[in-house]
Amino acid sequence: MELYREDQSVVLRYAEHLSGIDSAALRRASLREGARILRLPSFHQVDIDVLDLSTLSTTGTFKDWVACVAVARALAAGHRTAAAQSSGNTANALAAYASRTGIRLVALYPPASRRRIHPRLARHPRVDFVEVQAPEKQIKEILHAATCAVGVPALPGAHDQFEGNKLRAYFLRDAARAIGHGWDWHVQAVSSAYGPLGFYRGVAEADPAVPRVAPRFLGVQQEAVTPYACALDGAIAAPEAAMLEPTLFRQSLSSDLIDEMRQVCTRTNGTVRCLPNRHYLKWEPHAIAMLSDVGIMVTHTPDGQPQERAGLYSLAGALEAISDGVIPAGNRVLPVYTGGSGPVTDPYIPEHVVTAQDATPLVERILADAA
Ligand SMILES: Cc1ncc(COP(=O)(O)O)c(C=O)c1O
Repeated sequence: MELYREDQSVVLRYAEHLSGIDSAALRRASLREGARILRLPSFHQVDIDVLDLSTLSTTGTFKDWVACVAVARALAAGHRTAAAQSSGNTANALAAYASRTGIRLVALYPPASRRRIHPRLARHPRVDFVEVQAPEKQIKEILHAATCAVGVPALPGAHDQFEGNKLRAYFLRDAARAIGHGWDWHVQAVSSAYGPLGFYRGVAEADPAVPRVAPRFLGVQQEAVTPYACALDGAIAAPEAAMLEPTLFRQSLSSDLIDEMRQVCTRTNGTVRCLPNRHYLKWEPHAIAMLSDVGIMVTHTPDGQPQERAGLYSLAGALEAISDGVIPAGNRVLPVYTGGSGPVTDPYIPEHVVTAQDATPLVERILADAA
């Protein structure tokens, strides 16, 4: 059952809360940044509502809100060219929003993310996707060197990540008022954790005068990538574990991110847990069935695998925490479905595949030609 919906744009609806962005630029950038809340069947007497940030968004993930904000800010600042690096979803989102506004975009991604790229977005004449045969850390360095050399912005900045995600707090505040209840737990699968950190910044901003109890945060990390769970929940790193979801990849975190997450968890009595692969795979079919029963259809690849597991991880992590008793009977939980119902796409055939060594000159050349 659907409880609440913003069909068109959460970004435009709450644009007045975005600092330093021209609302005309936001209107020019906005495509569709919708969201809805649906009631799932309860589990061990825990009520579960899902926050669907996938099906009503342009490219199928919550990164559309961030891309809309980042592109609007670049547009307002007069930039005509921008660059990005991403494990796929942010690059797709930026490609959609940059194309809409006429901004020229170069996006770098690692080979493991090729299956994430939407060919239709990557083929846009003002967009170049570059597959770089290097680890994410090195791709970041390449991007940094090229954008500094040519003088174009790297999108999205951390500020845009926080700003785009803080709107979730305004949306959920209004949803809770309309539905008549809030949630005891907010659950998201995390990589850098910009989603929840932005959300909790928004919670603090949305009602500064009213002391209110923010929902407890439960972060979920896949077994192969657990820096937050190690720092906060005593998990032991298992880098040899298979990577089930390449989007959730961030192994090394800045101390600022860890500190902010520690504060969120202390303030809300929350934590970030590791979901072992075996447990995730046990929950996956249940999670897919629960979602499809309420009309959230998970996109599958031709080989029958979910195209995107980050949103499923959030629900699977909630089910695991309920069955472990971490989330007790009588609580109400809100897993965030950050992605998973994007468009079905053909396999992407890359236009540029380069080694780390060749990447910088290629990217600088494309950016310089465009600038
Ligand atoms: C679909 C999806 N869900 C979740 C995440 C995790 O995002 P973050 O940890 O920055 O909140 C990402 C990106 O990394 C994503 O693309």
